[in-house]
Amino acid sequence: MTEPLPPTPGDDGDAQRIIFAITAALLILVVTYKVGQSDAPVQPPDEVAMDAAFSPPEESTIPAGPDGDAIRRGRLIFTTTSAHAGQYVGNGLTCSNCHLDAGRKADASPMWAAWVGYPAYRAKNGRVNTMEDRIRECFLYSMNAPASKAGTPPPYGDDVYRDLQSYFAWLATGAPSGKPLSGRGFVKLAVTPPGHDPARGATVFAGQCASCHGANGQGQANPDGSYTIPPLWGTRSFNWGAGMAGVASAAGFIKANMPYGQGNTLTDQQAWDVAAYVDSRERPRDPRQTATVDAARKKYHAKGDYYGQKIDGKVLGGS
Ligand code: HEC
Ligand code: HEC
Repeated sequence: MTEPLPPTPGDDGDAQRIIFAITAALLILVVTYKVGQSDAPVQPPDEVAMDAAFSPPEESTIPAGPDGDAIRRGRLIFTTTSAHAGQYVGNGLTCSNCHLDAGRKADASPMWAAWVGYPAYRAKNGRVNTMEDRIRECFLYSMNAPASKAGTPPPYGDDVYRDLQSYFAWLATGAPSGKPLSGRGFVKLAVTPPGHDPARGATVFAGQCASCHGANGQGQANPDGSYTIPPLWGTRSFNWGAGMAGVASAAGFIKANMPYGQGNTLTDQQAWDVAAYVDSRERPRDPRQTATVDAARKKYHAKGDYYGQKIDGKVLGGS
């Protein structure tokens, strides 16, 4: 991690720069005799670039007191979800298995970038989502809450959301709001001419992934049921409704972050192919499926993932 820069007055974000630019423009208009001295070029606000990635604060700066306690609880829920919100977890995953480095890593859907992005409309559920709505969906799909003890994500208003949001807000300390931060979400890989192919991906998987995630994508489980390496498919992984079950999302995540510790070493083609391989294996059912797999495929999987398709003689999504 790079050290966060110490706050410099007048240089801590776009908002201040914009206010500065407006103030400078007003001065030019009103105090005409000073024009000759205000000859520094004033950048129009829309040319002000956020080029450097935002750096969240160091962990050691989490404050003492009730706010700090909530931030620390939120961090623990995020990094060891089954130990701290276990009744809502229906698989072997933890939030930070996908949101790497405890939600700090750019291009692994970091939580500082997410925090300033809500409330916002989401096409996936067709309404404006609060941060609580958004977290709820990762419980429902990525953490497979339907198979958990509670059988559902935490109820609205639960302390799990309060603590997670305290942690995210703290991670975003000093982040400008009102525009997307660089490093948010996953990278968007351009489509490659040959398209993606699970058969080619199987070769990438055997060579670059199986040593950690296992030949059957099962991950490495500890005796207590937690995982040292998370499962990529099967009953203990994310379900068919999850973002990671979409090949484009998985390819973007894998390209920037896998093999673990060696992000950006696969070619785009390898990332697409291995994502297609991972996402064409069976996993827990899509909680939105109320009738047949085919009906759910038409309604929720029109964007071309493998749900409802026949692979190795079996229709995916039916288990
Ligand atoms: C299997 C991987 C996976 C796991 C586990 C997971 N998520 Fe996510 N999460 C995703 C994906 C994929 C996205 C969408 C990323 C994007 O914007 O491209 C996402 C998005 C989010 C967002 C919105 C990000 C943004 O910038 O809008 C939040 C908030 C979030 N997850 C919170 C959580 C929390 C809290 C947990 C644990 C309870 C969790 N996630 C577990 C894969 C996962
Ligand atoms: C050196 C071991 C290692 C290798 C090799 C590796 N991974 Fe991972 N992978 C991990 C670890 C560890 C995590 C969880 C990271 C964390 O919790 O900080 C992870 C997380 C993931 C996740 C998100 C969590 C989940 O279970 O869905 C995906 C997807 C993934 N890896 C795919 C791959 C693919 C594809 C390859 C091969 C190109 C690969 N990994 C190679 C160790 C590895």
